[in-house]
Amino acid sequence: MSYARTILLIGCLCLLAACGKTKPAPVDARDLDPFADGALCAWHIGDPDAGRELFERPVLAGTGGCTTCHSLEPNVKLVGPTLYGVAATAATRHEDITASNYLYLSIMAPNQFVVDGFPAGVMPDGYATELSEEEVTNLVTFLMTQNPIE
Ligand code: HEC
Repeated sequence: MSYARTILLIGCLCLLAACGKTKPAPVDARDLDPFADGALCAWHIGDPDAGRELFERPVLAGTGGCTTCHSLEPNVKLVGPTLYGVAATAATRHEDITASNYLYLSIMAPNQFVVDGFPAGVMPDGYATELSEEEVTNLVTFLMTQNPIE
């Protein structure tokens, strides 16, 4: 291969490499959803009792526990909405997100899923980094048992 051709080839390769480096798009919370295709959420393999135990801890992940702000009784509004029957409520929040995935995302990205009538930035957003995937799964499994229809 001639010298000129080699230079041309290297030039083309550099150009290709540059094109491949596009700026990453901003992350949509729904991309965090490991079951975005509507397949069964991992909550099926979680432990609801372990989830309830986490839910009821006064302090969780170095911040207020869930019960600081959420009741499980009907019509009891603390800082956040009651989670009475939240499995059923969750199913109605977003038409393209299943109940379990909505619950998962509400814990992982609370400021991207803000309930009408409540302020953003109040629910701690550190659970995603402080809790293990297993703990979040157990929490979701527990919340999925909060269904008045069952
Ligand atoms: C400091 C108060 C606070 C704590 C602690 C808190 N939350 Fe929340 N949560 C809120 C508020 C306020 C909202 C409504 C605004 C929003 O959606 O961010 C909310 C919304 C939610 C929702 C959506 C409910 C619905 O009706 O759509 C879920 C689910 C939820 N929280 C679960 C939890 C779980 C599980 C924990 C514990 C791991 C927790 N929250 C801890 C304040 C809190």
